[in-house]
Amino acid sequence: MKDGAQVLVFANVKGGVTKTTTVLTTAMMLHLLGARVLVVDADPQGNTTDGLGYTGGALAYTLYSLMMGKASLEQVLKRTYFNRTTRVFYDPTDDEERQQLERDVQEKQAVRGPDLLPNNLRAAAAENELLPHPAWGSLIKDILLPLASHYDFIIIDTNPGLGKLTVNSFLAADYVVIPSIPERWPTDGITLLCGTIANAHEQNKALTVLGILFTRVRYAEHRRHMERVQQTILPQINQTFPWMKLTCFETYINETANFSRVTNERSNYILALANDAISIMYWGYLAELLRKIGSPFFEKARTMYQQLVTEYKAEQARLEGKKQQRAEIGGERR
Ligand SMILES: Nc1ncnc2c1ncn2[C@@H]1O[C@H](COP(=O)(O)OP(=O)(O)OP(=O)(O)O)[C@@H](O)[C@H]1O
Ligand SMILES: [Mg+2]
Repeated sequence: MKDGAQVLVFANVKGGVTKTTTVLTTAMMLHLLGARVLVVDADPQGNTTDGLGYTGGALAYTLYSLMMGKASLEQVLKRTYFNRTTRVFYDPTDDEERQQLERDVQEKQAVRGPDLLPNNLRAAAAENELLPHPAWGSLIKDILLPLASHYDFIIIDTNPGLGKLTVNSFLAADYVVIPSIPERWPTDGITLLCGTIANAHEQNKALTVLGILFTRVRYAEHRRHMERVQQTILPQINQTFPWMKLTCFETYINETANFSRVTNERSNYILALANDAISIMYWGYLAELLRKIGSPFFEKARTMYQQLVTEYKAEQARLEGKKQQRAEIGGERR
């Protein structure tokens, strides 16, 4: 946004392709770098809201109330907090947790997370309710305008599909990231998604597509599919929309079984498993993203990435050394 936060939207027509996961990790990494971050949950499923601690259903006011002119910014904007030791987010909609949070804030045990404009299932009516609104397309943009000078980054999570909430997000954004799993069905929708981005670009000329981020990469077939996207799908899209210059991020994120636990605990992968290979991959992606947008936070992200890689390699070498030692001792005994 002009004279303020850089607004990033994460979108894909397909459901379950790690949009929310990537929003939560991106927001947390930027927050840890010291950036002022606002997360906007534009998805009525409210998964991002949940991931930052809040039970969506318990909230009287959400982003949607703001869009409908039924709440003030003060009523909707939330601070988030996580516990320094457990790295789990507090749920301030729960009486007991709120009281605990108040005590933990005093004792400096609770730490601020990114700010949040939450959402819940009531926004599922948005498609129809926004229809008669003469300026429905710019509602999110208008909400974010007065907030832009208070943040370095505003990060928007969208719902699967190309409905009015997603279009609203494109009209409010500077950059789009397309998270995707490298399989046929998730990538099939990218052409359709690019058509909608191109329509939004007619009205929002500042909109830049940063690229496709492949996640949950596990099999050789995934790698073959990533090649296929590079060689066939990207050239087709770029022929139709030459301004878009669509690419894939060089970094990709591997599959891991650890996400279920982190999500169930209401923690954040970057906090819970800070030195793990997946977190390091996410830091690599963040550095790439910040380089692409020429952000002043790029150097910090790169330093963090390099430091984590060095530590990871040292730890791997230590473990390898121990393994060899054990094997040698075993050999001597035999
Ligand atoms: N690298 C990973 N390895 C394994 N599982 C992952 C990984 N990243 C995300 N997941 C899991 O994939 C599932 C889908 O992710 P997520 O909810 O972020 O997708 P989404 O695109 O936001 O879905 P929706 O379209 O419903 O909003 C979640 O269960 C999440 O924990
Ligand atoms: Mg989601």
